Amino acid sequence: MTEHLHDIAQAMVARGRGILAADESSGTIKKRFDTIGVDSTEGSRRDYREMLFRCTDAMKDSISGVILYDETLRQKAADGTPIVDVIRASNSIPGIKVDTGAKDLAGTQGEKITEGLDGLRERLAEYHDIGARFAKWRAVITIGADIPSSYCVHTNAHALARYAALCQEQNIVPIVEPEVLMDGDHSIERCFEVTEFVLNTVYDELYSQNVALEGTILKPNMVLSGMGCPDQAGIDEVAQRTITCLKRCVPAAVPGICFLSGGQSDELATAHLSAMNAAYDMPWVLSFSYGRALQAAALKAWAGKAENVPAAQTAFSHRARMNGLAATGQWSAEREQAA
Ligand code: 13P
Repeated sequence: MTEHLHDIAQAMVARGRGILAADESSGTIKKRFDTIGVDSTEGSRRDYREMLFRCTDAMKDSISGVILYDETLRQKAADGTPIVDVIRASNSIPGIKVDTGAKDLAGTQGEKITEGLDGLRERLAEYHDIGARFAKWRAVITIGADIPSSYCVHTNAHALARYAALCQEQNIVPIVEPEVLMDGDHSIERCFEVTEFVLNTVYDELYSQNVALEGTILKPNMVLSGMGCPDQAGIDEVAQRTITCLKRCVPAAVPGICFLSGGQSDELATAHLSAMNAAYDMPWVLSFSYGRALQAAALKAWAGKAENVPAAQTAFSHRARMNGLAATGQWSAEREQAA
């Protein structure tokens, strides 16, 4: 079983490829569509996502897997082809978001716990039948004056490990995503300290719950200055602190680490990843699993109009290729402009 999971995990971090996170929940995709004045309906969500998955060359070259939301995994493209087959046609792997969202954690001042464990074994079996070969579960950790609490970090890590063990039982590779949010005015040092604590706690729990690390992918935040911090760390400092933190916490048995973008600008998310790959030796493959940083330009170019599809596909293909270059440390601002 572990061997099979390991093969999938390795395919998810094949050289120069990374993951497209297109698994926005109905509430989140509505917010994204609101920014371009488009109604969020089952049809408009399908049209938008199908448009991205049909960028065959960029998908083949740069996108190893796509994280879907339950609705999309079950949808058919406009011509009747199942969406999972559209994705597979680019030699890309369909995946599925399986958590049911972050809710208030009882007994805290607004900290969150991610839910979705009830009935998860049965849901995973069905998702596997439909074609999903990996899954995602996102835990959300907020930095504030007295938070995160150890209670919040431990309960979220425990849930992540329960999810991961259930995935592996169903032959699905778990993406383990503990996101330390960049919201706030904290320093990069504080982000480092919290991320280190979170990752160590997560790997403790994965070990306690018999998760085979060879069949997992980690999806962490980068170590960044808080969005509102007046003193923003530069690209080299982000790369250096992120790598130091990951090396302290993530066992070498983990095949790959795919970052979330978390609210960074498109180009900065690419530049940070490339800087890490260009300057450091690591035991794992370092790639991307971006949502906003892969989609923002395409969403804007599309604006819900059929005549904008070619422009939107050009925008998406460009971002996918730039991140593919970053995954091997070969992106540069010059290449960004040249394209
Ligand atoms: P962002 O890259 O937009 O942070 O989204 C990635 C993701 O899947 C968060 O769970």
